[in-house]
Amino acid sequence: MTVHPDVKEILLDEKTIARRVAELGAQISKDYAGKSLTALVVLKGSFVFAADLLRAIDVQTKVEFIGLRSYGSRTSTSGVVEITMDVKYPLNGHDVLIIEDIVDTGLTLDYLKNNLATRKPASIKLASLLHKPERGVKDMSIDYLGFTVPNEFVIGYGLDFDGRYRNLPYVGIMKTP
Ligand code: PRP
Repeated sequence: MTVHPDVKEILLDEKTIARRVAELGAQISKDYAGKSLTALVVLKGSFVFAADLLRAIDVQTKVEFIGLRSYGSRTSTSGVVEITMDVKYPLNGHDVLIIEDIVDTGLTLDYLKNNLATRKPASIKLASLLHKPERGVKDMSIDYLGFTVPNEFVIGYGLDFDGRYRNLPYVGIMKTP
């Protein structure tokens, strides 16, 4: 595999990610058996993970999108979460599964969960590909977690720096400039 020159080290290669995503999909399918699920994909970062995870889930599923941003072109959170695109349909009464690429400080998820609660879903669960526990300022329980990662700036498989690198097929640590 060719490694992008801006990547210091590959943390999770394509096969490792695919194996774990299949396991998460199987677990979610088991837990929601007989129910219908509304997946809420948090754009932009989670679009790659969501595309793979959703195809590994075999219960009846609707897919909705919300755009949230707090990093902009920085490597640390601004602390202010903006809705860049809101959900287009009501979520009241739905079993909502939030799909995130990473829980870092937890501020984005905390904001989203509080916001969603006002929309009266039947339940809210969270699937996140990555968790960076060292940075957690909010205590977030992740129902379906792919991998724990160290406190490094990670890119690829949907995760960006300044809008770039989302298309890398692996998760890697970015070289510091
Ligand atoms: C990233 C990521 C999560 C959030 C996690 O989004 O997709 O939503 O940060 O960080 P936190 O736990 O510290 O809040 P970002 O603001 O970079 O927007 P993007 O998804 O459009 O890249």
